[in-house]
Amino acid sequence: METKKTQVAIIGAGPSGLLLGLLLDKQGIDNVILERVTGDYVLGRIRAGVLEQGFAKLVREAGAAEKMDTLGEVHDAVEFAFNNDRVELKLEELTGEDVIVYGQVDITKDMMEEREKRGLETVYEATKVQPHEVKSETPYITYEKDGVKYKLECDYIAGCDGFHGVSRQTIPEDVRTEYEKVYPFGWLGLMADVKPINPHLIYAKNDRGFALASMRSQTRSRYYIQVPLEDKIEDWSDEAFWDEFEKRMPESARKNLTRGPSIEKSIVPTRSFICEPLQYGNLFLVGDAGHIVPPTGAKGLNLAASDVATLYKIMTKVYKEGDKKCIEQYSPIALRRIWNGVRFSWWMTDLLHNFDETKDEFDRKMETSELSFFLKSEAGRKVIAEQYVGLPYEDLK
Ligand code: APR
Ligand code: PHB
Repeated sequence: METKKTQVAIIGAGPSGLLLGLLLDKQGIDNVILERVTGDYVLGRIRAGVLEQGFAKLVREAGAAEKMDTLGEVHDAVEFAFNNDRVELKLEELTGEDVIVYGQVDITKDMMEEREKRGLETVYEATKVQPHEVKSETPYITYEKDGVKYKLECDYIAGCDGFHGVSRQTIPEDVRTEYEKVYPFGWLGLMADVKPINPHLIYAKNDRGFALASMRSQTRSRYYIQVPLEDKIEDWSDEAFWDEFEKRMPESARKNLTRGPSIEKSIVPTRSFICEPLQYGNLFLVGDAGHIVPPTGAKGLNLAASDVATLYKIMTKVYKEGDKKCIEQYSPIALRRIWNGVRFSWWMTDLLHNFDETKDEFDRKMETSELSFFLKSEAGRKVIAEQYVGLPYEDLK
C-alpha cells in the first residue's frame, strides 16, 4: 500500500469537485481529486445549461471563467407558455439579475483544463474508493489505481461523488435522514445543431404535457418533452420527437421551429431527494451526493455551486484562522438554500407537468388558476424570477 497526503481529499470530478478543488487551490489549500471514471466519460454526460450569477462568480474566482464569459449567452428573460398564452418573465427588470446559458459539459471541461494547467492532481479511474475514520482527526481514503493500492491521508473529505457515490453511504444510516419524491415521468431530451425556436428558453405546457425549449448557443438547441417513465429511448425516433415537441409549443412559436438530426437523445428520470445532515465528522456531502432536484427549475448544478461556496468559505476559515468549529455550520447553511431550491423545483414541476392521475377536475382548475395568477401579476412574476435567477448565498456566522 502506497501512502499519500493532502489537506482536502475530494471524491468525484464532476462540477462540484472540480469547482471546489480550484477554489481551494486559490487559497493555497492542497487537494487531490479521486474520480471513478475517465475524464472523457465525465464529459460524455449531457446535463443542464443555465448558470446563476452566483455560480458564474465562483467560476471567475476559481480562475476558469474565460470561455464562459466569452461564449456563454446572457439571458435577461425566460418565457412561460400555457397552451397558447405566452408570458415573458423579464428577469433583469424584475430582479436586477440575469442568467448565463452555457453547458454544464463546457464548464466542466474548462475546469478540468484549468486544473491540469495548474498541475493539480486528479486520479482518474480510481477504483474501490472508500473513506475511513471520518469522525476522527485523521481521516483517510483507500483506493486502487492500475492494480496498486493507495492510502490518501487528509484533514477533510469532500464527497462530491454524485447521487450514486460512496460518500453518502459512509454516513451511518441511523445518523442520516433521506427525503425523497419520485415523479411518474421522465424527460426525453434531444440536442441538435439547429437555430433555437426562440431567443429565450420556453417552459411550455398544454394538454399533451410539458416541453422545454432550451439551447446551448444560437446554433445548438436543447429540447425536452415529458414522457411516461416506461418509455424507452428506442421508442422515440427523431421524427416522433420533433412531431410531439412541435405540438407542445405554443402555436405562435411553431413556425420558428427548425428540425435536424439529433446529436444526442436520452431519457432522464425526475426526482427530489435530500439527505440530512450533509456533514458527518470531517466528511461533507456536496452537490448531487447530498441532494437531487427535478430539472424543471434548472437548479441542480446551481445548488451544487452554493454548497461549494459554503464549504469553500469554511475551509478558508479553518486553514487561515484555525477556526475548526465553523465546520458545523456547513449542513445548516447549505440545507437552508437547498430546501428553497427543492421547493421551487417541485413547484415548477407540479405546475408544468400533466402527471397526477389522482388529480380531479377541481385540482386541475386550481393549477390553471395558480399558474395564471403568478404569470399575470407582476408580484407573481417577481416571485418566480427571483428564484429562477437564484437566491442569495448565506454567509458564515
Ligand atoms: N469514487 C470516485 N468517484 C465517483 C464515485 C466513487 N465511488 N462515485 C461517483 N463518482 C464520480 C462520478 O463518476 C462523477 O464524475 O463523482 C462525480 C459526480 O459528479 P456529478 O454526478 O456530476 O455530481 P456533481 O459534481 O455534484 O454535479 C452536480 O448538478 O445539474 C446537476 O446532476 C447534475 O451533475 C450535475 C450536478
Ligand atoms: C438545459 O438547457 O439542458 C436545461 C435548461 C433549463 C432547465 C433544464 C435543462 O430547467
